[in-house]
Amino acid sequence: MADFHDQQPTVFVLDFGAQYAQLIARRVREARVYSEIVPYSISAEEVARRKPAAIILSGGPASVYAEGAPHMDPAVLTMGITILGFCYGIQEMALHLGGEIPKTGIGEYGFAELEVTNAESVLLEGVPTTSRCWMSHRDSVGTPPPGFSVTARTATTAVAAMEDPSRSLYATQFHPEVAHTEFGQHIIRTFLHDIAKIPPVWTMVNIIDETVARVREQVGGDRVNCELSGGVDSSLVAALLHRAIGDQLTCVFVDHGMLRLDEAEQVVTTFRDQFHIDLIHVDAEERYLGLLAGVSDPELKRRIIGEEFWQVFFEEATKLEGVKWLAQGTLYPDVIESGNKTAAKIKSHHNLIPFPEGVHFDLIEPLKALFKDEVRAVGSELGLPEEIVQRQPFPGPGLAVRIIGDVDREKLGILRHADAIVRDEIGRWDTDREVWQYFAVLPDIRSVGVMGDERTYARPIIIRAVSSADAMTADWARLPHELLATMSNRIINEVEGVNRVAYDITSKPPGTIEWE
Ligand code: XMP
Repeated sequence: MADFHDQQPTVFVLDFGAQYAQLIARRVREARVYSEIVPYSISAEEVARRKPAAIILSGGPASVYAEGAPHMDPAVLTMGITILGFCYGIQEMALHLGGEIPKTGIGEYGFAELEVTNAESVLLEGVPTTSRCWMSHRDSVGTPPPGFSVTARTATTAVAAMEDPSRSLYATQFHPEVAHTEFGQHIIRTFLHDIAKIPPVWTMVNIIDETVARVREQVGGDRVNCELSGGVDSSLVAALLHRAIGDQLTCVFVDHGMLRLDEAEQVVTTFRDQFHIDLIHVDAEERYLGLLAGVSDPELKRRIIGEEFWQVFFEEATKLEGVKWLAQGTLYPDVIESGNKTAAKIKSHHNLIPFPEGVHFDLIEPLKALFKDEVRAVGSELGLPEEIVQRQPFPGPGLAVRIIGDVDREKLGILRHADAIVRDEIGRWDTDREVWQYFAVLPDIRSVGVMGDERTYARPIIIRAVSSADAMTADWARLPHELLATMSNRIINEVEGVNRVAYDITSKPPGTIEWE
């Protein structure tokens, strides 16, 4: 993937299969240097052709002796490129350059005290004599390769860092990329800016200018269409493309009627009135309500909404004359995860969907080199409203997966209203955005209550609020009782048909964030 690589000094992160490669790539970009993840098996010839400004070797299996452990092309280490190895990377370097890795099987996991033993260290410049670092390894280097000096140790790891500045090779057994390593980002910056001499030029303005230039070159005078959902990714694609090609862009907004309060209006106002984008707003609520009537199986609901969504979209898209391109908001993690096999598929929330029979567009994916936090930063820079840029994750099928059982207009009305209160109250309290996601859920039950002098038999609302870093795991948010009390009062007083409010105190696992 060429992408920004042609215009930017690029750091390659050699991926040895650990979950750390993405994190390293992000840390490098936080230091304002463009990075790309490449397979560990990349050949020296390929590296020579693509000329990275530096290389970082990621972590990987516990030991280079592990069964089936991946090994890099050793010639990459001696091409004169500045290289930094982390964890498994230090072992690879030692293995290929004549160091010794005794098979002790003694590992070190978690926090360790790092002691800098060589004040002359180039890599550890500015790191205090003792600091905290994060370890996760089994075997470790016993004797460094000839030419290397040992620069740090921990209680159990004799070679916690080593370097050979004459060959521009550096390595640490600990993980500088994880937040638990106190001076981790400092070490990464020293490596990039001082050792490899890469200037910190990867900025949001720079991303915008280069993306705009590339899109113009790619599409020329052709017309492009773009599916707009109001989520941050598709919104950014629309705003960027509009900046690049103006009137050649048409956006199709399929409003399935399952959006939150005022959300559809916000999409229309932002893109039609503020950005003056040619926007087709398809109000498909009736159509969806018809299809969903009486359907209570969660998977079936999702399937109906997903399939119908693309059907409606392509119905509109194919009516437009002379449109050659379809733009979509694929992000870098999608590209890495799918091994770059996204071509000619539509990213549909969690799935990839093929084009329908007889329909073809060339795909343009202007965000495919970016991480989510970069997308948000570019969005703000382009003037997208904060409500869109900071929008919480929201399922493609929308409120339909937060109404347990079948969906109808009345339930949608109740949930929309209660959800607006939850978002309003928690939003005002959580100004520094510590809560990952919060919303209301409408279960398929009724319970007895008393309001005024009357017995009621009405619906409950469940409030869900979770803290999380990435939605893979989550914990229920410890909201103050006062805040819960305010939400409960407001929902029961303001939302007709609700007589009870519950708070979901389930973490993930075993629960999921959504209820369906
Ligand atoms: P769960 O419920 O699996 O959700 O813990 C994890 C995260 O994914 C979001 N989510 C979705 N996002 N389409 C999406 O784009 C979907 O169908 C969908 N379902 C769940 C959910 O909100 C949470 O952030």
